[in-house]
Amino acid sequence: MAGNLKGLVLSGGAGTRLRPITHTSAKQLVPVANKPVLFYGLEALRDAGIREVGIIIGDTGDEIREAVGDGSALGIEVTFIPQSAPLGLAHAVLTAEEFLGDDDFVMYLGDNLLRDGITPLVDEFRSSDPDAMILLQQVPNPESYGVAVLDGDRVVNLEEKPKQPKSDLALVGVYMFTSSILDAAKAITPSPRGELEITDAIQYLIDQGKRVEPHVVTGWWKDTGKVEDMLEANRLILDVIEPVMDGELVDSDIEGRVVVQAGARIVNSHVRGPAVIGHDAVIENSYVGPYSSISTGCVVRRAEIEHSILLERVHIEDLDARVESSLIGRDVTISRTDAKPRAYRFVLGDSSVIGLT
Ligand code: TTP
Repeated sequence: MAGNLKGLVLSGGAGTRLRPITHTSAKQLVPVANKPVLFYGLEALRDAGIREVGIIIGDTGDEIREAVGDGSALGIEVTFIPQSAPLGLAHAVLTAEEFLGDDDFVMYLGDNLLRDGITPLVDEFRSSDPDAMILLQQVPNPESYGVAVLDGDRVVNLEEKPKQPKSDLALVGVYMFTSSILDAAKAITPSPRGELEITDAIQYLIDQGKRVEPHVVTGWWKDTGKVEDMLEANRLILDVIEPVMDGELVDSDIEGRVVVQAGARIVNSHVRGPAVIGHDAVIENSYVGPYSSISTGCVVRRAEIEHSILLERVHIEDLDARVESSLIGRDVTISRTDAKPRAYRFVLGDSSVIGLT
């Protein structure tokens, strides 16, 4: 195995399951506990000792470039690699061929979160020296995932979203590859959904007699491609935060573990953690409940919020029911007036979802 190990983070894609957020921005930049999902992955690579990281970008590439910069703030060196269209995970690998050269690499899906990081996996890959290593986790609904069948310490079969799964071991969004995966990605053809599937490329390696090893993950893993998974990831991360008080508290009380970032102002309100209140946010005459992440510049007045993510500069005022299990995009305003006739007034993007009581 070549000595150098690179990182390849996939941050293109269509993000159809996270519309309308993804109409205007990258799902990998949705904040979880006020930090973009993508940054957790980049930090996991850094913590495993990886310095050179290629990031695959698509339509939202400019936004990703701006958020990540050259990577030095995160302790890595980043190369951005534009993908012509989201034509599949194996297509993304081929797009990165020049960056990867002959080196081994960790492929990390930019919208995935792994509680225990990837250091144990990288160590195992280095000592065992297989042609590829895949991360797996037991799931109750394998038909929604890529599914692996094992024979001892070998992977013998892979299927993408099978109707009749042969095991309950789902592919987690992190893979360890040698450069043999490039030849495999060149040898396969697009699947019925028109994508070059990474499962097909790995199956090709198996069929060629290459050694593909499994690594079963026991800590939690989340693919944040859907709203409920994003909220669940937010819950899991907030569950382990440590309290910080850098903002201003006026006639308010805080219960449990809460991070209040600099410039935030909490007035005549009750905040029950775990929760994060972002820079320069204003919380007034309100209740913010467990598992809420309130981003920079949000304003919440005379409202109740729980188990929700508010992106930057959301304004919520004068609601008479609690906002719950919600993901609210940047610069959204939700407010109420007493003007007659009583009516709802909406300006909503495509695929917005509203639940009224
Ligand atoms: P997915 O979540 O499987 O695909 P998607 O982003 O197109 O979303 P949806 O199914 O909701 O339309 O992709 C996993 C990760 O890989 C995600 O971070 C996007 C990225 N990706 C690429 O960079 N290039 C690609 O060609 C594909 C398919 C995904």
